[in-house]
Amino acid sequence: RNAPPATLVIFGASGDLTRRKLLPAVESLARHNRLPSEFALVGVARTPMEDQTFAESSLGSRSLADKPQLQGGIRYVSGGYDDPATYKRLAETLDELDATRGTAGNRIFYLSTPAEAFEPVINGLAGAGLNHAADGSFARLVIEKPYGNDLRTARELDGIVHAAFEEPQVFRIDHYLGKDTVQNVLALRFANAIFQPIWNRSWVDHVQITVAETLGVGTRGGFYEHAGAMRDIVQNHVLQVLALALMEPPASFDAEGLRNEKVKLLQAIRLPTDRDIADLAVRGQYTRGGTREDLMAGYREEVGVDPLSRTETYAAMRLNVDNWRWAGVPFYVRTGKRLPARVTEVALQFQRPPHLPIPTAQLTELDADALILRIQPNEGISLRFGAKVPGHSFRVRTASMDFSYEQTFREESPEAYERLLLDALLGDPTLFIRTDEVEQCWRIVDPIIEHWAKDQSPIPTYEAASWGPTDADRLIGRSGRKWRN
Ligand code: BG6
Repeated sequence: RNAPPATLVIFGASGDLTRRKLLPAVESLARHNRLPSEFALVGVARTPMEDQTFAESSLGSRSLADKPQLQGGIRYVSGGYDDPATYKRLAETLDELDATRGTAGNRIFYLSTPAEAFEPVINGLAGAGLNHAADGSFARLVIEKPYGNDLRTARELDGIVHAAFEEPQVFRIDHYLGKDTVQNVLALRFANAIFQPIWNRSWVDHVQITVAETLGVGTRGGFYEHAGAMRDIVQNHVLQVLALALMEPPASFDAEGLRNEKVKLLQAIRLPTDRDIADLAVRGQYTRGGTREDLMAGYREEVGVDPLSRTETYAAMRLNVDNWRWAGVPFYVRTGKRLPARVTEVALQFQRPPHLPIPTAQLTELDADALILRIQPNEGISLRFGAKVPGHSFRVRTASMDFSYEQTFREESPEAYERLLLDALLGDPTLFIRTDEVEQCWRIVDPIIEHWAKDQSPIPTYEAASWGPTDADRLIGRSGRKWRN
């Protein structure tokens, strides 16, 4: 796939995401010859900076400034996001690059700023006429999360976006969709015939989706205080993974086919009522914990966090999908910071056999069959089933058949942001979020967030490096099930 000539403009160019993810992604695309020879990069931010300093600001040892393909093609424009002069300078820079680098009037505007800046930047671009491309060229808008703060503000943001850009110009990022292992959920389900017959209520007992992180909020306390686990991870990453794992097979993998099926699945998720929310959703906040050598601060002690904060750093839910495939099957999802392991996975646990001809005393270490899609780390898939233990007696215990990405392919996956930047350059929206998906995801999490905001009881806590609050065990335990830890 050859990307067309273009200039990538990053707003929020001095920010953390740009330094940690976007610039390294551009560097890697350049190193792997995935960028067109007519390519330019422009950073925009308030902080004054030289072109060269911006080019060298990428995290890691590899600098963009050393890339022959990018020599002379990196610019930095500093200025306020609500100052029309910023966009005038940007427009001049873009024209100059079109003339000197042959970028053909194609522009990608990447909003990697705090969400407050989305509106002024979009209005600034429109004010300078940069939202429209010349005939035969393109102008695209890539937007980072958070896309709104709830359904109402997401719709407001959409109004602002759509006043300047048409929906086909808009690319909403959820970087989980750029991960190879997330896309592999589709490969596993739809490029094989053997899984489809068991992928439903007749065979699946329940599904667990986990996005566990060992990190705390780090330096992002100020941002996280207003987000919390539900907005930061569940509304986007968890629900996207869930939709891919549970949706119906699309007729084709094009952008509309795939996104239509995701939306249909999300629409089928039953909303909790105020009466049953307490039984269906659990939150928690980490307190100081760990070992004596490695003692970790509690959330309320982190920089930028209110010492009386009620923000959740852990969230778990039980969801139901009201459709023919999944009626009656519970879906347990959870995410948290400062958990004991970094692991993202989808685990389908299958029903027990209808009749066991083996005495239960011989089955002591036999769990239910499970298929585990390991998104990260240790990327791969495990099938867990019962096998006879060697020996003269007939004992059965759980064994595992493992597929490892690394061992099978011996090739590194591109970083999620690399894949998504390239798709934005190519104009392929398949792995980006459509506006109706965003709305469905807010529809699902909003009632819970609102319920928690009203609930004045103390927020449940869990020690750093433990598997979340005990309420989460009760949430799943109510049906006699257990979290996979
Ligand atoms: C981001 C969240 O979207 O995803 C972070 O804002 C989180 O809080 C990160 O740490 C996790 O991404 P990954 O790719 O490391 O799993």
